[in-house]
Amino acid sequence: MAPIRQTTGASHAAILGIGTYRPSRIIPNAEVVEAIDSSDEWIQQRSGIRQRRWASPEETVQSMSVDAARIALERARVDARQIDCVIVATVTHMYQTPAIATAIAHELGTDQAAAFDISAACAGFCHGVALAADMVRGGSAGHVLVIGVERLSDLTDVGDRGTAFIFADGAGAAVVGPSDTPGIGPVVWGSDGEQFDLIRQKEDWRDVVASENPQMPHLVMQGNAVFRWASFAMAKIGQQALDRAGVAIDDLDVFVPHQANMRITDAMARAMKLPERVRIARDIAEQGNTSAASIPLALDRMIEEGDARSGDTALLIAFGAGLAYAAQVVTVP
Ligand SMILES: CC(C)(COP(=O)(O)OP(=O)(O)OC[C@H]1O[C@@H](n2cnc3c(N)ncnc32)[C@H](O)[C@@H]1OP(=O)(O)O)[C@@H](O)C(=O)NCCC(=O)NCCS
Repeated sequence: MAPIRQTTGASHAAILGIGTYRPSRIIPNAEVVEAIDSSDEWIQQRSGIRQRRWASPEETVQSMSVDAARIALERARVDARQIDCVIVATVTHMYQTPAIATAIAHELGTDQAAAFDISAACAGFCHGVALAADMVRGGSAGHVLVIGVERLSDLTDVGDRGTAFIFADGAGAAVVGPSDTPGIGPVVWGSDGEQFDLIRQKEDWRDVVASENPQMPHLVMQGNAVFRWASFAMAKIGQQALDRAGVAIDDLDVFVPHQANMRITDAMARAMKLPERVRIARDIAEQGNTSAASIPLALDRMIEEGDARSGDTALLIAFGAGLAYAAQVVTVP
């Protein structure tokens, strides 16, 4: 048996910079309720959403990703040619193959970086950060670009009162690379496939094609069951991520949960007994639920508004269709 040499990478990995893209079209609740039996007041009370952004035809999954990535690279002071791998978390790239990651890696000018998409829905960005940290420490990549991007407006039935007001579009990117100190804690992740049906595309593409009246297979969701699962089960996952990172809750500065519903965020904060001083991401009010893009969008807004500062300790927790979830503690770049 020939000995196989192993690689080791950097001692530690960290997020070196993040960047985002918010589509230009702002859709207030008043516009959404034109097509559903609902009201601005109900939507704000039950979800905390005041408005969301939906992409125009020119704001594609690729263009939004590239714009967000360029900002992240600039802030990280990393050249595109230093990126060895591009991971794109998305469920709204409409080609089954090839992955949009290869086109993004090319447009950014990487030196033929490895590039692939991952499908972990709203948990995708935290899955990507976990993979990237392990790649940097394991030696399979020097720098990794992680992108969370969605055009959920393509998969949203504007006439479905259970989902029309929730989903939105946007992109967020993070450059993960070597660091002198640990900047990304151990991931706590998992899945519950018994609840596979709770949020999903309405039907298989083959059924769409076979249908007499083909329709886009929009997302359907059992909102209340998802709400109950996320509010209770996810607080435990957040605590486990803190425990695995060896970070006491009193040392946490920032909490960035997936932006699914303001009431889920509040329920998690209560269940985790987050101290008052911990700043909480509330991007959902202006941005809606952008699935894989929601955590980098929410963190970036906190950085811009001074609620998260470089060096702060942040807990990220993402959850969604699958059901799939992932959480980790990170240092704010
Ligand atoms: C979708 C969501 C806001 C609905 O809120 P909810 O409190 O669970 O509401 P329910 O589905 O239990 O419905 C409560 C009532 O509101 C009504 N209702 C539902 N949607 C409505 C709407 N858009 N406007 C007005 N009323 C609505 C229902 O008909 C029901 O009426 P009833 O009591 O007379 O039967 C909430 O379940 C949610 O946010 N779930 C998680 C969604 C999510 O995060 N998805 C992505 C996962 S990452």
